[in-house]
Amino acid sequence: MAEIVAGVGVSHVPALGAAMTGDGSGPAAEVFEKFAPLRAWIEERRLDTVIVVYNDHASSFSLELMPTFVIGAAETYAPADEGYGARDVPVAVGDVDLSWHLIDEVVPAGFDLTIAQRLDVDHGLTVPLTVLFGRPEEWPVRVVPVLVNVVQQPTPSARRCFDLGRALGRAVASFPDARRVGVIGTGGMSHQLQGRRAGHINSDFDRMFLAATVDEPGRLTGLSNLDLIREAGSEGAELVMWLVMRGALPERVTARHTVYHVPVSNTGAGALALEV
Ligand code: DHB
Ligand code: FE
Repeated sequence: MAEIVAGVGVSHVPALGAAMTGDGSGPAAEVFEKFAPLRAWIEERRLDTVIVVYNDHASSFSLELMPTFVIGAAETYAPADEGYGARDVPVAVGDVDLSWHLIDEVVPAGFDLTIAQRLDVDHGLTVPLTVLFGRPEEWPVRVVPVLVNVVQQPTPSARRCFDLGRALGRAVASFPDARRVGVIGTGGMSHQLQGRRAGHINSDFDRMFLAATVDEPGRLTGLSNLDLIREAGSEGAELVMWLVMRGALPERVTARHTVYHVPVSNTGAGALALEV
């Protein structure tokens, strides 16, 4: 039987990936060090597969083709070329059987996922893997990508994202084969990369979000998309993907690690390690 044994929320700022894969000196070293306890903890969790809830940044999809929710069902996921060559990280190996089980359970439950049997993955997925696993020759886990549109309005609500997580959590629990599964919600924290409010960071909101994700997710699922954009910035609204992760976990979880560093690039960068 499969079981979810870890939930993680983690930022995907490209500069964070660069800090992790740099030579470990200079300002990057401080950032690198802050995430070290999270890496040790995740290694202890002995995960077989991670479900990575992330958003594509017009790498594999575009404004011409923008599905609301997507699930990968491919054998492998190559790092996407985002305009300056692909990140120098391993190809992610899929968990096809688990992907199809999730599809078979979650679609009849009312979440009409788009199914991707070919998908290149951008920094939204690969930077979190770097933050959590460092830079191995091969990723130590198999991967099921779940994509959320947080780019083109209207984006799915915080409540809808949480409910998708609940459906995914139930589906994992009914998978007949043994798996230790981690669910990773990515993106955020507060940032806005565009317009008059470019550079907007809201550390108070980020810290509230980190705490509420643990014990009071209902406080977050009550936020409208406009609330999220107002508080966290237009790109900070990526945080809804943390709620997919939280929805997949039981009501009671234990926070093992909380990390917050500001700024990385123009972004509040954080991570949260939840144990089931
Ligand atoms: C940055 C943040 C993001 O979420 C992203 O996708 C790209 C860049 C940044 O802060 O630089
Ligand atoms: Fe982003």
